[in-house]
Amino acid sequence: MFWRLLVLSLLSVLGEAANIGLLVVATGRYIQFVPPLLESADRCFLKNHKVTYFVFTDQEPVFHPHAIYSFQERLGWPFDTMHRYHVYYKHRELFDEQDYLFAIDADMLFVDAVGDEILGERVATLHPGFVGQRGSYETHPYSCAYIGPEEGSRYFAGGFYGGTREAFLHVLKTNISKIDQDASRGVIAVWHDESHWNRYCIDYPPTVVLSPSYCYPEDWSIPYSKKLLALNKDHAKMRE
Ligand code: GAL
Repeated sequence: MFWRLLVLSLLSVLGEAANIGLLVVATGRYIQFVPPLLESADRCFLKNHKVTYFVFTDQEPVFHPHAIYSFQERLGWPFDTMHRYHVYYKHRELFDEQDYLFAIDADMLFVDAVGDEILGERVATLHPGFVGQRGSYETHPYSCAYIGPEEGSRYFAGGFYGGTREAFLHVLKTNISKIDQDASRGVIAVWHDESHWNRYCIDYPPTVVLSPSYCYPEDWSIPYSKKLLALNKDHAKMRE
């Protein structure tokens, strides 16, 4: 771990390109977001690095020279979102060559340059709806995502996060185990994967905290520059 981080820091000092994996689950209608998302990432996302897109879908792949498609069936709401950790982990061998991994919601769009400022061991994005607040943590102790009243001071979005490959795989393993423990007791955390991500960020605080510029709701007006938009969508329709 130490040596890998040292090599990654040296690479960044030398301005060398790292291998970056951008992971997106886009089953059902969500596939419509993939071409514009990848096209926007081509223009804006870590341009000085070697980016590979890993797309998990049950739909016809849309060709892109740097995209690798894997089949993923629809699991139904809320498992399509909550089991993304499981999906990524199942395919972890695909990521062997990657130095950093980032997970992104399909319905997002890059609108400005995103560079080395996002590279770090554990990278989390502040949720635009709860800046400076504890946000919508899971407050029921029966869930493994539970956060007590004395814990936590900030709320992270589930739409964009990442880190080094090792750290990312640790997130996956940890949260899969908690989601599965919850499931064995018939429990689903209030905001699904995002709830578990917030619990994780208390246990393993992010080394890079990104502002809501990196999860900027398309039709909001908040005092941040727009870098990565969270697009409007008709939730009910998308889940049909
Ligand atoms: C909403 C967002 C959800 C979830 C929720 C948390 O604004 O659409 O995905 O993050 O906040 O309270």
